[in-house]
Amino acid sequence: MSKHEFTRRDFLGATAVAAGASIAAKTIRVPAPLFAQQRTVAPSDRVRFGMVGVGMQGSGLLATSIQIPGVECAGAADLYDGRHVLAREIVRADLPVTRRYQQLLDDKSIDCIVAAVPDHWHRRIVVDAVSAGKDIYCEKPMSHTAADGVAMVAAAKKSGRIVQIGSQRVSSNVVAKAREMVASGTLGDLMLVEGWLGRNSPTGAWEYPPPSDLSTKNLDWDTWQGDVTPKRALDPNVFARWRCWKEYGTGVAGDLLVHLISGMMAMLDINEAPRQAFAVGGIRHWKDGRNMPDVHATNYYYGDLPVYMRLNLATEMPETYRIQGSKGILEVRGDGLTFTPQSGNDDYPSYYAYSFPKAMRDAYFAKWHAENDARVAKEATSETITFHGRDYDDVEPHLANFFNAVRSRKPVVEDVVFGHHAALACHMANESYFRKNVVTWDEGRSAILG
Ligand SMILES: NC(=O)c1ccc[n+]([C@@H]2O[C@H](COP(=O)([O-])OP(=O)(O)OC[C@H]3O[C@@H](n4cnc5c(N)ncnc54)[C@H](O)[C@@H]3O)[C@@H](O)[C@H]2O)c1
Repeated sequence: MSKHEFTRRDFLGATAVAAGASIAAKTIRVPAPLFAQQRTVAPSDRVRFGMVGVGMQGSGLLATSIQIPGVECAGAADLYDGRHVLAREIVRADLPVTRRYQQLLDDKSIDCIVAAVPDHWHRRIVVDAVSAGKDIYCEKPMSHTAADGVAMVAAAKKSGRIVQIGSQRVSSNVVAKAREMVASGTLGDLMLVEGWLGRNSPTGAWEYPPPSDLSTKNLDWDTWQGDVTPKRALDPNVFARWRCWKEYGTGVAGDLLVHLISGMMAMLDINEAPRQAFAVGGIRHWKDGRNMPDVHATNYYYGDLPVYMRLNLATEMPETYRIQGSKGILEVRGDGLTFTPQSGNDDYPSYYAYSFPKAMRDAYFAKWHAENDARVAKEATSETITFHGRDYDDVEPHLANFFNAVRSRKPVVEDVVFGHHAALACHMANESYFRKNVVTWDEGRSAILG
């Protein structure tokens, strides 16, 4: 993951101030959320979790979770034995490990599950976990398909278990500050939201090196493939680079766009699927056999709000939002945000007046200056505000929010409905790209229509 993305933030300590000599700048530091801060936990309040999937993301979630006070790992499941070794290296040498996650679900001493498996396994694991009475933190995108998401929402609601989806932007302190500014009307009327993220490296484009010892002796490859047919012979590249294929992953939409979407939903207090999506893109650079686009740009309507999101795996562009309002622009980055106000008024007499005959023009200019010069002078000193987030990873507060909810039974910040709505935006982007057409979400039929 690139250093420019929210989860791997570099805190530069420098204040980014918008250009413009006449604009004053104010810099404010955003404190770390309270739930991320250390506290002591009574033994009776300890939460025991089972880890499912100890790969690239799961190993990080595991290492972070066991650092959270009052949280302990009771066992780990993975289909590849190399990840059993890794789990024991992270937690302790005698950690119980298994290829079958069902063993963790059967263990009554385990309170909850943290799952970081490829997208095509999310539905099965979430439905199985909540049906077995376990709360679950499941990685983003919540679902592999819209239908999977519908089934997951139904299972979670029926069981009453807690589901937290792992799009950690929702727990970002920068996103929280943006949310506050939007809610208080700082931006005026919301006009349009843009978001983008680009990478330009093989690793950024998911060309990950497969583990060197993979074989059907140390990996249950048949189970790894889930319901996907026809089954393939073991392909180490598919194991490591599954994001490239729609059979297992959800492309840049589910991998990266979901972060932009969930962050935007949190900032704008949206909890619904987009009404409409239209995407363009292509496999423009990484012609390595993948079937998901490496460039993917989608226009949405959220209600009547136009939203334009673009992803690119062959041009580096730090993850950024630009929220355009009638009172200015809010630019949100991983390490902070900048609000640049705009008055919405004319700074000069209208240039249309140059089409007037001289006498009429002179009269218009004189009147305009008499009525507006004092206001223009005042507006020229309006304040640009820059907030800097602390140098911390959003994943830790996002996990802590889940474990606290398991204890308290209070709602999580990103429940199954929010996760479903965020994932639907990704599925709509993919459906539109493949159908080359506008798609809409039909809530009544629970289907994406073309
Ligand atoms: N929130 C984030 O910033 C972030 C970052 C990276 C990945 N992710 C998400 O995390 C998930 C995992 O991604 P990854 O990069 O770690 O993948 P990965 O391929 O590196 O690891 C997945 C692991 O799950 C195991 N697995 C697969 N099916 C299983 C099953 N049925 N039972 C037990 N283990 C199983 C695999 O053997 C593998 O070790 C994906 O949904 C991805 O989108 C989220």
